[in-house]
Amino acid sequence: MDPHFIRESKGLKFWLARPQDYDEVMAISQDIYQGNDYLPHHYHNWMTQHDRVVIIARRNGKLVALDSGMVVDGGQTVVLEGLRVCPSERGCGVAGVIQRVTDHYIKQVYPSVTTKRLTRRDNPGPEKLSKFNVLACRVN
Ligand SMILES: CC(C)(COP(=O)(O)OP(=O)(O)OC[C@H]1O[C@@H](n2cnc3c(N)ncnc32)[C@H](O)[C@@H]1OP(=O)(O)O)[C@@H](O)C(=O)NCCC(=O)NCCS
Repeated sequence: MDPHFIRESKGLKFWLARPQDYDEVMAISQDIYQGNDYLPHHYHNWMTQHDRVVIIARRNGKLVALDSGMVVDGGQTVVLEGLRVCPSERGCGVAGVIQRVTDHYIKQVYPSVTTKRLTRRDNPGPEKLSKFNVLACRVN
């Protein structure tokens, strides 16, 4: 069994990302943050960071999504970053699936994590926000 393979869920196969996945990750990132995406600059550094998890999803071999978490605060908190889904798969729940796989993997590997921190560009609305403690909100 390939040690990078994590699991299969909802027709997707999840893997730990490797340096050689870079070009495929960039291919799903073309339109992100109006050309100011930080991932092209940080990807290879992420591959070397201790306590960082980077997960990719593939459908029929094609890379369709990425999510990442960095474990901080002495193992108590995970900071989620980098979430993206390829344009052709958006609006079908893939972001939810990969986030659940990432949560599950991080809980397995880092059982001390009790807090998840994430940043959202959109306003998720009161129902979703009720599941979180909001730390800060910035209106541009
Ligand atoms: C934002 C993005 C990842 C959403 O992906 P998607 O698969 O189309 O998401 P969907 O609208 O189908 O939503 C499905 C699930 O993802 C969650 N989701 C959607 N957008 C999200 C976001 N920005 N952050 C966290 N979760 C998000 C939804 O809450 C939903 O969760 P649920 O299944 O638990 O109910 C995708 O549009 C994308 O890659 N955009 C460009 C990059 C980007 O803006 N990334 C977000 C950084 S915060």
